[in-house]
Amino acid sequence: MRQSTYETEAGIPDRAILVSLVTPAIKRGSADPEHSLQELVSLAETAGVEVLTAITQNRETPDTRWFIGKGKVEELRAVADELGATTAIFDQELSGAQVRNLEQELDLKIIDRTQLILDIFAQRAKTREGIIQVELAQLSYLLPRLSGHGKNLSRLGGGIGTRGPGESKLEMDRRHIRDRIADLKRQLAEVVQHRNLHRERRRKSGALQVALVGYTNAGKSTLLRELTDADVYVENQLFATLDPTSRALELPSGKEVVLTDTVGFIQNLPHDLIAAFRATLEEVNEADLVLHVVDSSSPMRDEQMAVVDQILGELGASGTPQIILYNKMDLCEGEQAQLLPHSGEDTLLMSAFNPEDLERLRQAIQNKLTGDTRTFALPADRGDLIALAYRIGEVVAQELDGGTMRLKIELNKHDYEVHGYKLQAYTQQHQSEAH
Ligand code: GTP
Repeated sequence: MRQSTYETEAGIPDRAILVSLVTPAIKRGSADPEHSLQELVSLAETAGVEVLTAITQNRETPDTRWFIGKGKVEELRAVADELGATTAIFDQELSGAQVRNLEQELDLKIIDRTQLILDIFAQRAKTREGIIQVELAQLSYLLPRLSGHGKNLSRLGGGIGTRGPGESKLEMDRRHIRDRIADLKRQLAEVVQHRNLHRERRRKSGALQVALVGYTNAGKSTLLRELTDADVYVENQLFATLDPTSRALELPSGKEVVLTDTVGFIQNLPHDLIAAFRATLEEVNEADLVLHVVDSSSPMRDEQMAVVDQILGELGASGTPQIILYNKMDLCEGEQAQLLPHSGEDTLLMSAFNPEDLERLRQAIQNKLTGDTRTFALPADRGDLIALAYRIGEVVAQELDGGTMRLKIELNKHDYEVHGYKLQAYTQQHQSEAH
């Protein structure tokens, strides 16, 4: 096992106090500060930190020097001494100067939410693409925090993940970091090009793409495993999956589609991370169907769904056909359960561990992907149109009648609207010419 960064030199887990500042502006924002703080506890535990307690301050605006008020800094010091804390983790993003001031004043390791998330990603990245993307995000986060701090960056390095820039790299000056960023971007472009080729090949093979998306810990990897017998990592932790994993999924008709698990979403996902992971997240854009997995038992269910919708929008995937999977129904009871919609064409109430639900899900995917049957009559010498027909749907019957190729195709509404109308137009033209 790799050593976690959130531990002392003696290998003892960091002991942290969580700190949250609540200002009117933060209250007006999309993330509820109380839920956000609860989530910070999970994030800290996921990173391997022992959480001791949390302190909150209500204030009009953040203090430029300390972020929290000076009085609160003193309180933090007293609590840290009493509980033997090694670290303070702030739920909001701090400036480089604030981190340094607090570190000097308190002699604690100071981490903010963004850095914590970046570190978790750094601990989890496994593929070359993931590792490059995380380092890129970490350096982009670090760069604006260096201004005016001379060349010794080691203080800023507290808590940076082992997979990202290590201590020695943190000694680099800004120019080196910029060079490194440029180099990583080049490497990423190569990996992405390779991935695009791969994706293009998959597309040409005609397999439909189904993407699992959802808030972290909603059960995406579990579903991928249960549906495809895939050997994937499932953990009751945030961001257990970082790199997209694709597996073949057999539908009741026997047809296979490609099911891809993607990185979990979270509120206030650091922007550097979204930017760095854009290439990976864009897999979602290529999907023919999005399965939005929801932890229906979570008290933050609605907020989590809103975050996922927002990120899908940012990625340009809002228009992709979607089925909402209200997962973990076995844990959902009382009012929580009553507030849910009924299962329908676009919604399924289910548990990833219930085989009957999994069968219903396979059927729902099939219905959504191949909902409609259409017959096209195309000129037999137009190989390009016939190939298009095979690409966009499942050809269930084919008949050659003189110069006319008649194809009966099962295809979904979306593909009909995007591609099928072209075949429909040729069908009408061909039929009127034949008469
Ligand atoms: P990230 O990798 O963080 O994005 O998480 P994920 O969405 O892939 O979640 P994952 O599949 O790792 O599941 C998270 C936890 O929820 C695991 O402990 C699962 O066993 C559990 N889980 C998933 N689905 C269900 C379900 O239907 N019912 C119950 N009771 N637990 C579930």
